[in-house]
Amino acid sequence: MISDTFVPQRLDRATPFYIAGHRGLVGSAIWRQLVAKGFDNLIGRSSSEVDLRDRDAVFGFFATEKPRNVVLAAAKVGGIMANNTYPVDFLSENMRIQLNVLDAALEHGVERLLFLGSSCIYPKLAPQPIKEEYLLTGHLEPTNDAYAIAKIAGILHIQAVRRQYGLPWISAMPTNLYGQGDNFSPQGSHVLPALIRRYDEARREGTEAVTNWGTGSPRREFLHVDDMASACLHLLENYDGPDQVNVGTGRDSTIKEVAQIVAEEVGYTGRIEWDTSKPDGTPRKLLDITMLRESGWEPSIGLREGIASTIAWYRDHVNVVRS
Ligand SMILES: NC(=O)c1ccc[n+]([C@@H]2O[C@H](COP(=O)([O-])OP(=O)(O)OC[C@H]3O[C@@H](n4cnc5c(N)ncnc54)[C@H](OP(=O)(O)O)[C@@H]3O)[C@@H](O)[C@H]2O)c1
Repeated sequence: MISDTFVPQRLDRATPFYIAGHRGLVGSAIWRQLVAKGFDNLIGRSSSEVDLRDRDAVFGFFATEKPRNVVLAAAKVGGIMANNTYPVDFLSENMRIQLNVLDAALEHGVERLLFLGSSCIYPKLAPQPIKEEYLLTGHLEPTNDAYAIAKIAGILHIQAVRRQYGLPWISAMPTNLYGQGDNFSPQGSHVLPALIRRYDEARREGTEAVTNWGTGSPRREFLHVDDMASACLHLLENYDGPDQVNVGTGRDSTIKEVAQIVAEEVGYTGRIEWDTSKPDGTPRKLLDITMLRESGWEPSIGLREGIASTIAWYRDHVNVVRS
């Protein structure tokens, strides 16, 4: 729902704009996007400069820097394994980061704020494609429920600020993201960077067969992080409403198709095998992006093109990527 009174507005390029998490996958893409669009008063701090779990540090930072626009892309993020093993860390750290940043932003009168969540906020058995209105209509996927609850609290926090203070703060829920700056570590990474690393290593080592978990039949949606960054700026300039906005491509592919593209693009010529004794996970996970489309935005980076550029970036940075 887009509010009746909101007027789409180009953000002023000189206004102080804080990107929390500006060194991460999403935050760094948003930073690049804003620089490309002429923003020249961007503010970023690493976690060692301002630990967002530290309330005093966050309030001190806002008092000094006085940002007027904020994107909250700082979070403790991880794959299924990490989420399932350390649920307390994912709940506690994300709740503290959000609470501190949103409270400080309120106290210091931040005008436009975008909170980033994730598609794991939706019920495990939500009908596909997943519409925004399915939030809080069923049980969560247990392996990342602690993380999801923290993100749901963030969405509700944004809605509460709108209700109580009338500020035009918004939330966006991206699908699986990938691209330059991703986490390629075997323990912490998501499916696409994990496939890129595995197949590129197999190519280098001349491995005859690579075995993947499951049947390869689950369908997943992947959005290039530069498209995500473009959607974030678009939403900040064109959308206002209490509902979180899904951000995706509206298209999904089987894991088998994705593995095939990765193998072709890295130049791996060995066999691709599937260990069907391993679990597949949810058969399908696709966001309904009607709301985003209706606000006037479309993705522009195709999956093969995005995977190819991510592989090129990975190879250029193989010694410095998170691993
Ligand atoms: N990646 C995906 O596929 C995906 C999908 C959907 C939604 N999202 C959402 O997008 C957001 C960003 O994710 P991402 O993939 O960009 O994660 P990421 O690459 O791991 O980056 C997270 C960023 O958060 C910062 N951070 C973490 N803890 C901090 C702390 N205590 N104090 C200050 N900064 C802290 C880190 O700063 P330092 O580098 O300085 O330590 C890092 O730059 C998250 O809300 C996530 O839920 C991501």
